[in-house]
Amino acid sequence: MATAAVLGLTLAACGGSGDGGDGSSASGGADQVEVFTWWAAGSEKAGLDALVGVFNEQHPDIEFVNGAVAGGAGSAAKDLLQTRLQAQDPPDTFQAHAGAELQDYIDAAQIEDVSNLYDEFGLTDVFPADLVDRLSTDDGKIYSIPSNIHRANVVWANPTVLEDNGVDPEATYDDLDAWMADLEKLDKAGVTALSVGTTWTQVNLLETVLLADLGAEAYSGLWDGSTDWNGPEVKAALEDFETLMSYTNDDRDGLDWPEATQMVIDGTAAFNVMGDWAVAAFEEQDKVLGTDFTAAPVPGTDGVFDFLADSFTLPVGAPHPDGAKAWLETVGSLDGQVAFNKAKGSIPARTDADPADFSEYQQTAIESFSNDTIVSSLAHGAAAPVATLNAISDATSKFTTGASDLAGYQSELAAAAQG
Ligand code: GAL
Repeated sequence: MATAAVLGLTLAACGGSGDGGDGSSASGGADQVEVFTWWAAGSEKAGLDALVGVFNEQHPDIEFVNGAVAGGAGSAAKDLLQTRLQAQDPPDTFQAHAGAELQDYIDAAQIEDVSNLYDEFGLTDVFPADLVDRLSTDDGKIYSIPSNIHRANVVWANPTVLEDNGVDPEATYDDLDAWMADLEKLDKAGVTALSVGTTWTQVNLLETVLLADLGAEAYSGLWDGSTDWNGPEVKAALEDFETLMSYTNDDRDGLDWPEATQMVIDGTAAFNVMGDWAVAAFEEQDKVLGTDFTAAPVPGTDGVFDFLADSFTLPVGAPHPDGAKAWLETVGSLDGQVAFNKAKGSIPARTDADPADFSEYQQTAIESFSNDTIVSSLAHGAAAPVATLNAISDATSKFTTGASDLAGYQSELAAAAQG
């Protein structure tokens, strides 16, 4: 890693007038910025475009170069990014999740401490302290600037499909059992009760099931070793996951989240569990909350906010560090956060944004985020390192494609969580 860092700095110096040192003072390359994300299409691209619009206003002389790589949750982007980082070919800035995923990049010395930018841009007090903690090391260095906060434990429903199949669209469910009774009814009626997509969306579903059945405290214990992955509680949750998967569409492994959510939008499925980027897809198609779709915490997770945040980094050896700093300035700015989050479905990471600027759904998310118990999302980098997530994803794919049984799945998950 030390060698990688040194090489990176050399490249940075070539790119401009970088003065080496700890790298954070490297400068130069203010004519462009390559921004690496996975917001490549649909409502996610619309969010990115809105942010780029503010960037172009704030920094008209810097060219935005779109380095987006398609694939929800970074399912393709993160591997490609790792290849580039290891080849000392970093983008100027990249999207990273707050929490364990960011820590991976810090541990590998792939990103710079940007605390000086917090001072320069006046960001020190504008983000919630808990969030800044998830971007920092114990010695107070901060490694990225957050753009938004998403909630992963939301169930989206099509009220017309429910009504047409004898399920009360106003029904609320205290737990998964109550919900599964209605899913069973829908399934018997011949509709796709619950839509899901490829592996990462199944992991997103899994984490909400673990959260529903174990509760917030024991769910969080899965990530610090205090909850036993081999225990009967996890086994019961995996049984529920298996049952839920039995109500899903057969073509799931070929779909990413937009297609899975689209099934609810189109009325070919009743429910979809997805993070609240989904709201942007509904709204982009002029669907109205309460009429065309409903949103609620996954049954059994009311009062718990399954948290994740996107943030942007300054990679070691970024070829255009000044371009990257300009991008980070826009990401952290109030105008940038308002424009981006309005289009993206997330809520601003900044605490000084006016909730009235956001949609009805987003206002509920803002309120939940300040009142609910916060837990960390697995599928979106907050709870566990990338290697753990990858191992859990592999085990999940094996299980949902029938290549392992429940006992095998549970022991593979337990092994994955141990690292
Ligand atoms: C998450 C990301 C969100 C959204 C989602 C689906 O990991 O944090 O911003 O893009 O993936 O791709």
